[in-house]
Amino acid sequence: MSSTLQAIRGMNDILPQESRAWQFVEDSVRSVLESYGYREIRMPIVEKTELFKRSIGEVTDIVEKEMYTFVDRNGDSLTLRPEGTAGCVRACIQHGLLHNQVQRLWYTGPMFRHERPQKGRYRQFHQVGVEVFGLEGPDIDAELLMLTARLWQRLGLQQVTLQLNSLGTTAARAAFRDALVEYLRVHHTRLDEDSRRRLDSNPLRILDSKNPEVQALLADAPVLSDYIDAQSREHFERLCSLLDAAGIGYEINPRLVRGLDYYGRTVFEWVTVQLGAQGTVCAGGRYDALVEYLGGSATPAVGFALGLERIIALLEQQQTAIPDNDPHLYIVTVGEQAQRHGLLLSEQLREALPALRVMTHCGGGSFKSQFKKADRSGARFALVLGDDEVAKRQAGLKALREELEQQTVGFEALPGRLAELFDN
Ligand code: HAM
Repeated sequence: MSSTLQAIRGMNDILPQESRAWQFVEDSVRSVLESYGYREIRMPIVEKTELFKRSIGEVTDIVEKEMYTFVDRNGDSLTLRPEGTAGCVRACIQHGLLHNQVQRLWYTGPMFRHERPQKGRYRQFHQVGVEVFGLEGPDIDAELLMLTARLWQRLGLQQVTLQLNSLGTTAARAAFRDALVEYLRVHHTRLDEDSRRRLDSNPLRILDSKNPEVQALLADAPVLSDYIDAQSREHFERLCSLLDAAGIGYEINPRLVRGLDYYGRTVFEWVTVQLGAQGTVCAGGRYDALVEYLGGSATPAVGFALGLERIIALLEQQQTAIPDNDPHLYIVTVGEQAQRHGLLLSEQLREALPALRVMTHCGGGSFKSQFKKADRSGARFALVLGDDEVAKRQAGLKALREELEQQTVGFEALPGRLAELFDN
């Protein structure tokens, strides 16, 4: 059977038994975002390669080695989006959404990165991204963090902690970068191969190194916060005080730099220790220079993206109760008349009670085998119809998960009785 077709490594099917958790997270995210007035934007999954090179940065891991890039039939270089910010900015510029306007936007969908697959890290994964354009103060940074905190609360997630840092302006970062490179050059023999390579291309990423030897070396290295410009420092202090006022705990992590080039000033990550190495469930920050860099007029911007696979893994890990969407009612029919009538009756019930979830047995079989299926469907009640019942225009209502005596209910009284039972 080795020729059986399989999904591509790192790209997962989401099976029926898993999709409920996805819907629960997606619905909760949407409802929280709407409660803050954010509107959805939908962008294509494929964009010109150039867009990602320019926005994420030529020497980032993503652009250097993780993009799914191909030449299409017109000879254009295209890329499956590795993230959503670049496409969102492109769309806003293209459609003139940023002219003296504030935009609070969100999107969701698959992203693609050719990373080494492992738990929590996939080649196709899903993000919900949130981007705000046109606001430069720390109040909007705080709003985004309050929104994420509310989301964890809504989902029932525990033990996610907020790490916060400020990268300062581009100039401040450049000065820090120079100082860091100078320090690391002096000690370059203690760097591993990866860090040595980054020393020329992207030295700030060395701060993220997991190598204990490199981390030890960094303990005495220059720290970014010493290079931060006064305005960025004030922005950061005001953000911290807004978070304090809102009761949102955070940890200032001076080593937090993020892997994409477009950030400046505020950066943050929500992390958990419960998912092993891939513990960042949500990450983002300010990118005030990107809109102008991509050809729009200068527009401050801030946003984040959360990784849906990781959120769902965490829900599972924490055994969070997820409301089910099993049928309320499973219609069991034995006999020709009953089968016919079962289909019609279920339509009438859906008409009368639009929120009712009714599954009608199809495919015949004995009462016993149908009850087995009713039970497996997760339904709370079975509605039992035989030819006799149809003749009398009544049905048996049998609880499948509670100790309740079977009741006989006339067809006319059924919608009212079911509405009572299911609070419809
Ligand atoms: P990012 O840090 O690259 O940022 O990704 C955001 C989140 O997506 C991560 O924290 C993680 O939860 C999830 N994620 C990333 N890569 C993978 C993967 N291979 N497998 C599973 N989950 C993954 C961005 O993408 C920025 N666009 C965020 C942003 C929006 N910044 C400003 N606006």
